[in-house]
Amino acid sequence: MARLDLTGLTALVTGASAGIGVCFAKELQARGIGKLILVARREDRLVALASELTVPTEIMSCDLGDPEQIQALYERFPDVDVLVNNAGFGKAGSHDSLLPSSLPMLDLNCRAVLQLCDLYLPRMLEQGRGGILNVGSTAGMLPLPSMALYAATKAFVNSFSDALRSEVKSRGVHVSCLAPGPVATEFFEVASEGAGDPPAFVMASPKAVARAAVRGLERNTAIVTPGLHIRLGMSVATTAPSWLVRLFTGLYGKAMLSFAGK
Ligand SMILES: NC(=O)c1ccc[n+]([C@@H]2O[C@H](COP(=O)([O-])OP(=O)(O)OC[C@H]3O[C@@H](n4cnc5c(N)ncnc54)[C@H](OP(=O)(O)O)[C@@H]3O)[C@@H](O)[C@H]2O)c1
Repeated sequence: MARLDLTGLTALVTGASAGIGVCFAKELQARGIGKLILVARREDRLVALASELTVPTEIMSCDLGDPEQIQALYERFPDVDVLVNNAGFGKAGSHDSLLPSSLPMLDLNCRAVLQLCDLYLPRMLEQGRGGILNVGSTAGMLPLPSMALYAATKAFVNSFSDALRSEVKSRGVHVSCLAPGPVATEFFEVASEGAGDPPAFVMASPKAVARAAVRGLERNTAIVTPGLHIRLGMSVATTAPSWLVRLFTGLYGKAMLSFAGK
């Protein structure tokens, strides 16, 4: 399939107020995108990022957990060639201790991703050109005690994106899924409510991750997992016998729960 030429296209990036989303905006600009639409709840951060960029940029403060706000976003910006579904959050702890965040997490990590794909995909297919970059996670490749729901939401994103890619690849639309390991962003602060980050040496930089993902989208790579050590680790984990995976993830989950005090 031909490379997706981003030059002059319009891209919408969700979760552009922090972390990987900020780097997506900068990387898309570097790859020649014609216009950016940046979305998140914290408007001040979007304003600050827009002022740093040189490409024409519009911003919209939007809670993507709310389907009506997503509809309003679409009505304001219907003409999007590249959709980057990046906004998402996780929570660490036993599932029963995290019940208040359950449905909001499902809404943002799954339903918003689906609603935005459903709104923007038809125009891309009509034009025979476009791209969708969904942000899943290596967490979605295995069940993960201590982040049970988060891992399940990312399994949805990983699986849906891969299958959608197969369906539309002959119709000119690229679909890639970024499935990174740990990345140095505000994610862990939100997930653990300040209990701490994984050690710095296991974390990828958001800039490197965003760069790999945008290149992957240009080439229509199904799943982009930056970092050879992460790819090797995940290929061992996903081919190991299920009893061994359960033993390992169970021990990991116990350690995480006692670390997080939950
Ligand atoms: N960091 C990692 O280790 C890692 C690993 C694998 C996958 N991921 C995934 O990567 C994506 C980006 O995360 P990150 O690491 O960059 O984390 P981050 O620094 O915490 O950024 C999360 C972004 O999502 C936005 N967001 C959260 N709730 C929202 C809502 N209700 N409506 C609109 N926007 C919302 C936040 O903006 P506002 O708060 O301003 O709304 C922020 O811009 C997520 O999907 C995450 O699951 C992260």
